[in-house]
Amino acid sequence: MTPRPPIVLDSDPGIDDALALQYLLGTGRWDLKAYTSVGGNLPAEQTYLNARALTRAFGIDADVPVHRGAGRPLTRLPYTAATAFHGPAGLGNETLPDSTAARLPESSAQALLRLSRQYEGELTVCATGPLTNVAIALLEDPGFAHRVRKFVFMGGAAQVPGNITPVAEFNIWADPDAAEVVLSSGIPFTMVDLDASHHWLVRPADLAVLEAAGPGTALAARLLRAYMDAYQRHGGDDACPLHDPLAVGACADESYLTTAEGAVIVESTSELTRGKTVFVPSAASRVFYADSPTLTARMALTGRVALGPGPRDFTKDFVATLPRWPGVG
Ligand code: RIB
Ligand code: CA
Repeated sequence: MTPRPPIVLDSDPGIDDALALQYLLGTGRWDLKAYTSVGGNLPAEQTYLNARALTRAFGIDADVPVHRGAGRPLTRLPYTAATAFHGPAGLGNETLPDSTAARLPESSAQALLRLSRQYEGELTVCATGPLTNVAIALLEDPGFAHRVRKFVFMGGAAQVPGNITPVAEFNIWADPDAAEVVLSSGIPFTMVDLDASHHWLVRPADLAVLEAAGPGTALAARLLRAYMDAYQRHGGDDACPLHDPLAVGACADESYLTTAEGAVIVESTSELTRGKTVFVPSAASRVFYADSPTLTARMALTGRVALGPGPRDFTKDFVATLPRWPGVG
């Protein structure tokens, strides 16, 4: 049997982060080497506790180590108000028991660096929260960018409005300096942004399927209902986007996305534009920023950027995959 490729999931659970973990496990495609938490939706200590609890909820706490992320963004103050979408402790209305696994002294960034060396050329890193841990790993050892086989992150808005401000998506906005460190590192990236994630939604009919699928998806169904209610309270439809699960899906199959090659430069010089991801298509005329040697050089560091949904139905695959890895009831 072909060994499953190694992956690290770096997350700020968070409701859709939790769903991304169960989806990753349900695909059966990956050897999850570590679950590294990062501050974002909630402060780092809370997302660490949530990550520990989720490994217990999905029965992997004896096998998958959880690491604690950086205590704050690189330069900005931690953000604490995502509770409006993710609930008071970040997992809807759930109070999940802590894992019994020992707390590990190795930080998320240290674990990322260690695993990039141990699985050089093989490791996929999927980030579904702010990029603080990945940036710290790169600042400590720029070679991380070239040891990772693939880096997929949920974040950014290439050609659509933002969600935390009119121009910025939350994960990038929360730590824009970290995002610029990562996107200017030369790491082979795929940006799973709002341009794509806002097209892959869970609607009531999808939720009904998960509610009827038995106790193994009961937790996911409750989390989704809480997320959908939050989106409705904030003026959305009776639906919620699968931001983070889509990033996990794209690690294995980018046909859920329509992508273009290009550079992504993070603007953070003003509170008005903080975290704006400026997408510069590789096919663009070279007159863009021609008067700026710095920006012209920056435009040479490219990756794949989602500009919309792809031909493969991610919502359909997500709903079919989740029951394959039952969580607690
Ligand atoms: O903008 C969506 C992202 O922000 C998702 O990762 C969600 O979990 C929140 O962190
Ligand atoms: Ca997240």
